[in-house]
Amino acid sequence: MQQQDLAKKAAGEKAAEYIKPGMTIGLGTGSTAYYAIMRVGALVRDGMPLRAVATSEQSELLAKEQGIPIISFSEVDKIDLDIDGADEVDEHFRLIKGGGGALLREKIVAAASSEMIVITDESKYVKHLGRFPLPVEIIPFAWELTFKRLIALDAAPVLRTRDGRTFVTDNGNYILDCHYEKIKDPAGLHQQLNDIPGVVENGLFLHYASRLIIGYADGSVKSL
Ligand code: 5RP
Repeated sequence: MQQQDLAKKAAGEKAAEYIKPGMTIGLGTGSTAYYAIMRVGALVRDGMPLRAVATSEQSELLAKEQGIPIISFSEVDKIDLDIDGADEVDEHFRLIKGGGGALLREKIVAAASSEMIVITDESKYVKHLGRFPLPVEIIPFAWELTFKRLIALDAAPVLRTRDGRTFVTDNGNYILDCHYEKIKDPAGLHQQLNDIPGVVENGLFLHYASRLIIGYADGSVKSL
């Protein structure tokens, strides 16, 4: 296993220690969330009563493979604990998410959760948000106009592709990765982006994370 994966594994497994019997868990998306989901699966197989909702089709599939009971959102009153990765996190626990393309579902689940634990390796813990391109989910209708609006705002957007084709999210939308280098006013930018017709949601998560677990390659973790 590579060094970064060891760090992700350490963080993901540590987060699972916060799970208590009877909880409804939000399952994040990505290579760090993968390790948390594997651990949740082990807890279920050991007999811990749990239910979960997933933030992507990929995570739902993995959860089902692991035997984790996935419930529909109509059955959910509240989510007790959301465990998810991030592309960047700053000292105020503000995040950039969406590198894996699941930001919209991830934000809906985070907003419905009593607590959100963010799990990362140390490379994601940054002084200023913005070096990682900010994902912005947009609807396909007239996407070129939305793209031009973002150019006018100096966002330097790039339409995300995968295998030479336009990347399509689980919600049937596109993603524009926006290049800022340093986001000086995350709250202002969040509002500015979401005010654009055609923008569904952006990858700034400003008020959701309540705990940050940073994993290191030697298997140790720091919980903030
Ligand atoms: C997916 C996400 C992921 O949490 C983020 O991209 C981090 O992924 P990884 O753990 O693979 O580095 O926001 O939309």
